[in-house]
Amino acid sequence: MPAIRRSRIAAIVIVFLLSALWYIRHKPGAWSYQYTSYTPALPKAPANDGKVHWIKLPDRYPVSSYISYPTGSPANIPLVQASQPRESAAEKQERIKRKQAVLDSFLHSWEGYKEHAWLRDEVAPISGQSRDTFGGWAASLVDTLDTLWIMGMKDEFELAVHAVEAIDFSTTMEKDINIFETTIRYLGGFLAAYDVSGGQYPVLLAKAVEVGELVMSCFDTPNRMPITRWDWQRYSNGNAQEAPEGSLVSEPGSLSLEFTRLSQLTKDPKYYDAVQRISDVFEEGQNTTKMPVSIHLSKPASGAFSEDNFFTLGGMSDSLYEYFPKQYLIMGGLLEQPRKLYEGFIEVAKEHMFFRIYNPKDQNLTVSGDIQVIGGGNILNRIPNGQHLTCFAGGMVGLASKIFNRPSELTLADELTSGCVWAYDNNPNGIAPEIFSVMPCPKNLDCKWSQERWHRSLAVFHPLAGGILEDDGSLSERVSKIAKENRLAPGFTQITDRRYILRPEAIESVWIMWRITGEKKWQDAAWRMFQAIEKVSRTDIAAAAIVDITVDPKDVKGQRMDSMESFWLAETLKYFYLCFEDFGVVSLNDYVLNTEAHPLRRPR
Ligand SMILES: *[C@@H]1O[C@H](CO)[C@@H](O)[C@H](O)[C@H]1NC(C)=O
Ligand SMILES: *[C@@H]1O[C@H](CO)[C@@H](O)[C@H](O)[C@H]1NC(C)=O
Repeated sequence: MPAIRRSRIAAIVIVFLLSALWYIRHKPGAWSYQYTSYTPALPKAPANDGKVHWIKLPDRYPVSSYISYPTGSPANIPLVQASQPRESAAEKQERIKRKQAVLDSFLHSWEGYKEHAWLRDEVAPISGQSRDTFGGWAASLVDTLDTLWIMGMKDEFELAVHAVEAIDFSTTMEKDINIFETTIRYLGGFLAAYDVSGGQYPVLLAKAVEVGELVMSCFDTPNRMPITRWDWQRYSNGNAQEAPEGSLVSEPGSLSLEFTRLSQLTKDPKYYDAVQRISDVFEEGQNTTKMPVSIHLSKPASGAFSEDNFFTLGGMSDSLYEYFPKQYLIMGGLLEQPRKLYEGFIEVAKEHMFFRIYNPKDQNLTVSGDIQVIGGGNILNRIPNGQHLTCFAGGMVGLASKIFNRPSELTLADELTSGCVWAYDNNPNGIAPEIFSVMPCPKNLDCKWSQERWHRSLAVFHPLAGGILEDDGSLSERVSKIAKENRLAPGFTQITDRRYILRPEAIESVWIMWRITGEKKWQDAAWRMFQAIEKVSRTDIAAAAIVDITVDPKDVKGQRMDSMESFWLAETLKYFYLCFEDFGVVSLNDYVLNTEAHPLRRPR
């Protein structure tokens, strides 16, 4: 071959290699895009893989005009965080040691997921199997992205970012997609990973759009209310769809942060429009419902939700209220509506749902309970239950007290959070069970502990006591036996759900109180809670939920379940870690966290 030909071929090869290199560096997912100027790609056309795929159809019920996003520069919202407390060299050393312990725990579970369940929704922490519980789109992976970044594991983060490119959101084995879970875990996960990493990884925004477009299809109904358990194949086949009668308020009510952030990042107003329509229904409803804390949107189709009679901050309506102050933050204070919704709700909650409890040390502790209402709004029944799920309330009240300038409610936030810490500290393994009953103090009356009062409450309320009302002198002895056999510490009258499933709500409030006040007692509480959870939950593979967290510590390992939900890595360990991290990392002055602990950047 003549030399001239050879050098030409060499030149072509070099040009080809350089182009390939350029392509690899600049393909979606590489590092070259600007934070604000990137226009995300739409979802890919369905692959020809033998599976049924979701198809985006033209809107059957198009929006005639979008609700406009409020204009103006962000309002001057009071700072949320205290300044970071000074610490001695020894204190700093201790804090770093604790932070490292959380990091070790995280790495252990993360490695377990990587080894046994990579790209699946969950790792089973005892058997080492894998499970698909949220659509089969690698829930644990997407949920954990921002935690990896926050904990400083850039290599692991990039590995994970690269892996998410392969997730195909246009197909799932589920018949009905759970819109709420998909939004908070996947959409929230992508948006937060994009935000905390400073927008350097455009594929994250592209994936957020992919999920957002999928979820938007469930809004194509006559009144533009979403179908929160959504039959995606029925839609793809071109059937008309309607929002169902009776959906849980938290489900349509907890999409607002994620969809608003998606509109902010893509500059496409349709996502914000979709969720603002829901908020407008809530605003109307707040005036007509018996209490503005309803669980069910009785009839989203008609927009009325006044028929309910059971109210709680626990499962099923929790994140709706949590999102009022948070929506105000993500909107930069440009919209008054979420503030009004919060103000309407919190007065009712203070009056009827929050109560002080009797406890042996006479601490000021408050619990958020349930109430049942009958016609006309008369209170029928106050149910003195504490729930692990309602433990988010302290953080919510604390955050709102700062941003809405309600300083007196910081004490309430402290009491609500302290109630949860107390429930941890007063159970045999240092962890609060899922649902328990306590003794409410009468409003504005003496809340002084007496053993006798506890015994009387047990006698009346505990099912095994069978309503022992007459004291023939043996009451105390009889109920003490019941308390002992049922492992009820003084102050508890019943434990109706004894599980601990690695939930985050208690540490969430503890972390928010720590950042708001800088009071060391919260950091110490976090450390006690972390050690307790780490001790009982760690398995060879990852971390396990516990069937009965109230058994004797020597038996508790036998109570482990083969389950680890994605919030363990996404929320619980992130909050623990942040309790020992500098105040500048995920500052609450810069970020607002969705209900799955995904930090979204607040507008500046
Ligand atoms: C709800 O009631 C309040 C006061 O009663 C009133 O100011 C407000 O305009 C009402 N809102 C709606 C949407 O009807
Ligand atoms: C507990 O609350 C009462 C008012 O309800 C207050 O007088 C008292 O000082 C509080 N105690 C502590 C330790 O904060």
